[in-house]
Amino acid sequence: MDQQALKQAVADAALAFIKPDLKADAIIGIGTGSTANCFIDALASVKERFRGAVASSDVSAERLRSHGIDVFELNEVDKLTVYVDGADEANRKLQLIKGGGAALTREKIVASVAKTFICIADESKAVQKLGAFPLPVEVIPMARSVVARKLQKMGGNPVYREGVVTDNGNQVLDVFDLDIQDAVALEKEINNIPGVVTNGLFALRPADVLLLGTQNGVKQLTVINTMAEDGEFY
Ligand code: 5RP
Repeated sequence: MDQQALKQAVADAALAFIKPDLKADAIIGIGTGSTANCFIDALASVKERFRGAVASSDVSAERLRSHGIDVFELNEVDKLTVYVDGADEANRKLQLIKGGGAALTREKIVASVAKTFICIADESKAVQKLGAFPLPVEVIPMARSVVARKLQKMGGNPVYREGVVTDNGNQVLDVFDLDIQDAVALEKEINNIPGVVTNGLFALRPADVLLLGTQNGVKQLTVINTMAEDGEFY
């Protein structure tokens, strides 16, 4: 199976979390990216099972609406049954790097509200150690250079993602070469730099379930069953 087929397979598998007995007023959180797009398209087939969705980006909101799925503002909603999103990297603790699509801030906010966070990814995203994928950091435009200098002092090599403006009107630095030993500590440390809006580490709130598309089928991983084995990720 090629990468696109693996993405479709995990998106289809995630439909199992949109159960027929979901409350009719349930609202679902939806991520951003090519894997999330596969999920949105699949979700259309079960749209009578829930009331609507909160999207982590304008582009996902538009795609949801194109399928006749109602999109709500997060301010109108007090709980989300589930949040489904892709990732750029996932480790065995289900800590993630996200933000390849520049939607990291809204993704992190929506994920923080959800009862269950389901990450959907093809097997290329599974890593022993986070950080080969450059860490996206959303910054307030006037603070871009000062934040970049601080990230350099932390051992990173930040590169300005030119031409990209987030849905929040901000800019993105992609930080190469970070040595991510303690993802929780690093997530907090980068968030504490004035001018940083969010960084793409999802370690304080990791995924609860990782649906990983492999050549041997979709693996459903939780922290318990990814950590049970030595050596291989799964
Ligand atoms: C967007 C994201 C995406 O989830 C991440 O980039 C993975 O994207 P894709 O499913 O296209 O590989 O974090 O900000």
